[in-house]
Amino acid sequence: MNKSILIVAAERGLGLGLAQQFFDRGWSVVGTARQHADIQDLQRIGDRDLSRLTTAFIDVTDAAQIAPFLSSLGSRRFDVIFFNAGIWGASHQSVLEATDAEFAQIMLTNTFGPMRLARHLLERLVMPGGTMAFMSSHRGSISINVEGGLELYRASKAALNMLARGIYAENRDEGLTVLSVHPGWVNTAMGTLDGSIEAEIEIEPSVRGVADVVERHMGSGENLYLDYQDNHLDW
Ligand SMILES: NC(=O)c1ccc[n+]([C@@H]2O[C@H](COP(=O)([O-])OP(=O)(O)OC[C@H]3O[C@@H](n4cnc5c(N)ncnc54)[C@H](OP(=O)(O)O)[C@@H]3O)[C@@H](O)[C@H]2O)c1
Repeated sequence: MNKSILIVAAERGLGLGLAQQFFDRGWSVVGTARQHADIQDLQRIGDRDLSRLTTAFIDVTDAAQIAPFLSSLGSRRFDVIFFNAGIWGASHQSVLEATDAEFAQIMLTNTFGPMRLARHLLERLVMPGGTMAFMSSHRGSISINVEGGLELYRASKAALNMLARGIYAENRDEGLTVLSVHPGWVNTAMGTLDGSIEAEIEIEPSVRGVADVVERHMGSGENLYLDYQDNHLDW
């Protein structure tokens, strides 16, 4: 049987690239978007084999959408669930300048929302061996942060790494693997700040590397913090 992956936020950017990668590698892919998003690019991935590409809808910040989302998945289970949804947040990125609402929004979208959903989706993993991957960032590393700045984004991804460790620690005896993945600095809307700066790499090499990392470490029973070239990052 094909391996199966659920990708949360798959209709543009890195998520769309990941959906293409896993589909091309023969996986069955469920890709999500928010309601009213343009999902044509995501749907087009399935043109060659409609049975292996399904779409579903979830906004990770909205708790009321979790139950309908879970029922839209039917009885499906997944070998891998990949949490990709994220925002850059306020452009100043400063604790001193941030409003309560700005800080709440980035933590809700990048940290609390994905992890709340992950907790609800645990029982949808094929166990033992099921793997959760979280789109982290090297900006979430406490060790690597020697220059400061980017406070809002860093805080959200450091907290995501911490909660990823928590769900792993509580479920490793059941055979859970948890990966926190840095995709590189990638040419997406976020990576270029909507086209105002240049990123380091294109989407294709990033998602190819991320998919390689997932395939290499899935089912390992470990909690790893890796970049798209399979380098271990210091927490
Ligand atoms: N690009 C980089 O250089 C880079 C580096 C390190 C980490 N990352 C991480 O990689 C992930 C993907 O980023 P990207 O570069 O592909 O950015 P992107 O092109 O801006 O895509 C962001 C994705 O997240 C989705 N999203 C945002 N808020 C959401 C919500 N409340 N609920 C569900 N989905 C939501 C977006 O959906 P909509 O289309 O509906 O907005 C979109 O699919 C993020 O977690 C980001 O932090 C990116």
